Amino acid sequence: MTEPNPTLRLKGIVKTFPGVRALDGVDFDVRPGEVHALMGENGAGKSTLMKILAGVYHPDEGQIFIDDRPVVIRSPIEAKEHGITLIHQELSLAEEMSVAENIFLGELPRKKWGFVDWKTLDERVGTILQKLNADWGPRTRIGSLSIAKQQMCEIARALTHSAKIVVFDEPTASLTDAEKVVLFDVIEDLKAEGVGIVYISHRMEEIFKITDRISVLRDGSYRGTLNTRETDEDEITQMMIGRSLELHRRNIEHAEEGEEVLSVEGLSCGRLFQDVSFTVKAGEIVGFYGLVGAGRTEMAETLFGLRRPTAGKIRLAGEEVHIGSPSEAIEKGISLVPENRKEQGLVLGMNCRDNITLPQIDDLTAGPFVANGAEVAIYDMYRDRLQIKAPTWRTLVGSLSGGNQQKIVIGKWLSMKPRLLIVDEPTRGIDVGSKSEIHKLLRELAHQGYAIIVVSSEMPEVLHVSDRIIAMHNGRITRTFSADAVTEEDLIQAISGLTSDKAA
Ligand SMILES: Nc1ncnc2c1ncn2[C@@H]1O[C@H](COP(=O)(O)OP(=O)(O)OP(=O)(O)O)[C@@H](O)[C@H]1O
Ligand SMILES: [Mg+2]
Repeated sequence: MTEPNPTLRLKGIVKTFPGVRALDGVDFDVRPGEVHALMGENGAGKSTLMKILAGVYHPDEGQIFIDDRPVVIRSPIEAKEHGITLIHQELSLAEEMSVAENIFLGELPRKKWGFVDWKTLDERVGTILQKLNADWGPRTRIGSLSIAKQQMCEIARALTHSAKIVVFDEPTASLTDAEKVVLFDVIEDLKAEGVGIVYISHRMEEIFKITDRISVLRDGSYRGTLNTRETDEDEITQMMIGRSLELHRRNIEHAEEGEEVLSVEGLSCGRLFQDVSFTVKAGEIVGFYGLVGAGRTEMAETLFGLRRPTAGKIRLAGEEVHIGSPSEAIEKGISLVPENRKEQGLVLGMNCRDNITLPQIDDLTAGPFVANGAEVAIYDMYRDRLQIKAPTWRTLVGSLSGGNQQKIVIGKWLSMKPRLLIVDEPTRGIDVGSKSEIHKLLRELAHQGYAIIVVSSEMPEVLHVSDRIIAMHNGRITRTFSADAVTEEDLIQAISGLTSDKAA
């Protein structure tokens, strides 16, 4: 069988930024009706390559062919005219506008004298939202939707402009399982219509489930393309990071049992979660596993003073505490690495060093010279430990790749040396190599005596880092497991609410 000619071909693409050769002669092509995965570590150049395709950046060298004709894509508008749609890794919606306005931005249907034709707009957007199973309407304000729902709106926007090539840059990072199913259906439909799809994700299960071919970048250079059916996780990992990882081995060395750091009794917060009781000791990692919406993030936010509990007690080292705000939480030695790094974790217009040392500014401003050196030293330490890829400490965080931004957030909260560290989805958007580094780092921290709570929706992750695993379903704890004894099956049943400790 001969393969169809590619719709799109990129040849010898080179792109440099100050201090970084982001792409070093990359080849890439997409055939009609295929899903082509683009993989590589954080900072490998995936988003940059796709931004070149979408007219956001201009290549220094190289050529782009569409249907075998050379083209120059000078702007996002020109990209759209060529039938190329990019769904960005970073959301790019206007928060104050409605869903409908965002979807038809710049080309709203008009009536006579230029008035917006709201009726047509609502109808057209309504149809698309229905297709996506959305429970919100065309007039909803974007800013009032969760990140996941905003992401779906971004996808809706792409679907309205009949495209030849659709690029999804880490679309599932913040989607629930149900939303993922919808997304994969949408991708199937696009495939059937002959659209070529580029799919960027760090999640291997997804890659092997929905893609036809996989291309790999490492440090801006092209490492090759394989048929998905003829390769496996190990081979791809090897191509991405140049070594293999023991991905599936689970062998937790428990730290020596320490004092009880946190004890939570009957904690509730309205309808978000109820009657949650558990303890965390120094040296222990407790993993909270459940589906998106099970109440885990809300529970973590309550411990960090972002929400007020409606019932229950929180004790730190045996003493009952009331945590009225994040600054009180920090004062009491609690840190939270939030789920959504952009909104709660980072100042994008600030450099790497300052983002990491920001929380300790008071301690460090002893003298102008001393402070500066100390800050750089702290930054250097976390850069090495977390393998942060940035040209210098002066680099603005906003110009780092998505995964490297996540590492900066983790560094920031670690640098405060908390007693209790809460990390919510610690490796979302992080590549396999760095992921295992972050897991190792969390285990090390446990051995140093930190008490740690890890909230995660990824089963391998909770299995890899936790000493104990607490399963939640619909706002309640269903079961608690020792990580040594638990099976995947136990966990699935517990988070679906099929089993509980009480019943057992
Ligand atoms: N606007 C920019 N200015 C300066 N450097 C940039 C800019 N955009 C990207 N880079 C750099 O180019 C390199 C490639 O980044 P890119 O965002 O393409 O990585 P990625 O493969 O998408 O990573 P991730 O998986 O973390 O999203 C990185 O070193 C990044 O810091
Ligand atoms: Mg990226």
